[in-house]
Amino acid sequence: MIRHAFALVVMATPAFAQDTGLAAWNKIHEVFSHPRCAYCHVGPDNVPLVSLSESPANPRAHGMNINAGKSRVGSETVACNACHTPHNSPLPHGAPGAHVWALPPVEMQWFGKSSAEICAQVKDRARNGNRSIGDIADLVEHEGLVHYGWAPGPGREPAPYSATQLVEFIKQWDAAGAPCPAQ
Ligand code: HEC
Ligand code: HEC
Repeated sequence: MIRHAFALVVMATPAFAQDTGLAAWNKIHEVFSHPRCAYCHVGPDNVPLVSLSESPANPRAHGMNINAGKSRVGSETVACNACHTPHNSPLPHGAPGAHVWALPPVEMQWFGKSSAEICAQVKDRARNGNRSIGDIADLVEHEGLVHYGWAPGPGREPAPYSATQLVEFIKQWDAAGAPCPAQ
């Protein structure tokens, strides 16, 4: 009887860590899939997408024939920083800004991907810029381009939580073995 109870406790521990880890991941995913992050983390098609519609389910193309190209900074056509300066425009629908303005490499696509797919990408050193999860937390803590998501200028909904909270969620997720959801 006692032995049986002991076995239950031992087996319950990893399941508990798994639950804590998945709960942390769900909050991370809420941020990563938000338009303020996902509109830059797009795939190889012409876009970046733009915030004319706040609904992630109904984004609008960037317009003005903007094509990020292979460079991801528009150097083949019109450079992103022709309009995107280091600072947000103070006007609604003016161009937002950060110290650099570039799309991430296509393999860091989050837009249109499932939670499980984003989770797998973030953990994959071949697709995440060869980073450990600790390095990902550092990037979120220090990178101005990421911080843009919480200070996106007038008329745009900021990403949920804060950079500091996101760093905490990433550390909790890592400590729990960085589990990914089934889908
Ligand atoms: C203006 C475009 C832009 C926006 C907006 C943006 N990112 Fe990124 N992000 C980038 C670029 C460019 C890189 C590639 C940096 C590198 O590898 O050095 C990147 C890489 C990353 C990475 C590391 C690679 C990976 O995908 O595993 C993380 C994590 C990240 N961004 C988080 C965020 C979060 C969180 C937000 C929203 C709060 C956000 N980003 C918004 C452009 C953007
Ligand atoms: C001709 C000016 C212009 C150029 C060039 C330009 N943009 Fe934009 N961009 C804008 C404006 C203006 C907005 C804001 C539109 C709005 O809020 O209605 C915007 C918004 C965005 C957004 C949405 C940000 C958010 O948080 O919703 C992204 C992403 C973006 N641009 C990426 C790029 C990239 C990448 C390039 C280069 C390949 C680029 N833009 C080139 C003018 C420009």
